[in-house]
Amino acid sequence: MKNRKGIILAGGSATRLYPITCAVSKQMLPVYDKPMIFYPLSALMMAGIREVLIISTPIHLDRFKELLGTGENLGMKFEYKVQEKPVGLADAFILGEEFIGDDNVALILGDNMIYGPRIERVLKAANKVEEGGVIFGYQVADPTSYGVVEIDENGNAISIEEKPENPKSDLAVPGIYFYDNDVINIAKNVKPSERGEIEITDVNKAYMEMGKLKVIPLGSGYAWFDTGTPDRLSDASDFVKAIELRQGIQIACLEEYAYNNGWINESKVNQAIEKYKKTEYGKYLQRMLDKKGKQQYTEIFNSELFE
Ligand code: TTP
Repeated sequence: MKNRKGIILAGGSATRLYPITCAVSKQMLPVYDKPMIFYPLSALMMAGIREVLIISTPIHLDRFKELLGTGENLGMKFEYKVQEKPVGLADAFILGEEFIGDDNVALILGDNMIYGPRIERVLKAANKVEEGGVIFGYQVADPTSYGVVEIDENGNAISIEEKPENPKSDLAVPGIYFYDNDVINIAKNVKPSERGEIEITDVNKAYMEMGKLKVIPLGSGYAWFDTGTPDRLSDASDFVKAIELRQGIQIACLEEYAYNNGWINESKVNQAIEKYKKTEYGKYLQRMLDKKGKQQYTEIFNSELFE
């Protein structure tokens, strides 16, 4: 299988969260009990992606280095890159050209979290597609404030519109995208939009026009949050809190994914347990080691067992 690298776009200006983000990076803000960037990072890990480039502003990048380091403690490899100005999401592939090399790539926005039954499987399925692009479609009640994708019966995108007045479907496009290596050249050819940004929508349209953009619809029960406004940030925190307390699990526990992916051994997990020993995160990791592995029942009810 062709290798795929990951990029987390954790820059931007976060003006919708002012004054919280006047001096602090949005992607460092807590979503309940963890820094926001843990959630998108965990999505890449679930997909099986081990090498990740973190892009942020000249002011904030060093804090991310401090938080996440080289990735060695997760059996991963992290690299960092400054984005001087927030010129658009497609800039990730231009800034990331050297990092991506000849590999395929997945981009996730640093303020997006995605969670739900069998999400790991869904992300791994997207990762397996070697040619073209794969995006997701998340059913929303009011599509007019999102990028909206329309699909045919084979799951191919047939139209994409930004914040349409009359949406052709109710599938919003979350901020996680899987592309082949062509995305670098495609991004370089995207012209700035009216708002002066090089838009990811134009990258997706380029793939769609080549007949190479697959859409995975996320059915009922999935949670997708874009935590860019105070209300959504608070909703995401409430969601994580409700699941974690009610079920005694942790969402976006990085060492858990690393361990279950076979990227780290028990001694690395023990280091994390020591560091986080005063928190539920640390206790959860201890329980994971005690049980030797998975603590979440990710499979939905298997009806065949009852036939
Ligand atoms: P947005 O939420 O669209 O922009 P923003 O974070 O600057 O927020 P606001 O609208 O409140 O000013 O960005 C989505 C994500 O992508 C977010 O994690 C920031 C990141 N981003 C970059 O890192 N670089 C960019 O050039 C852009 C446009 C966004």
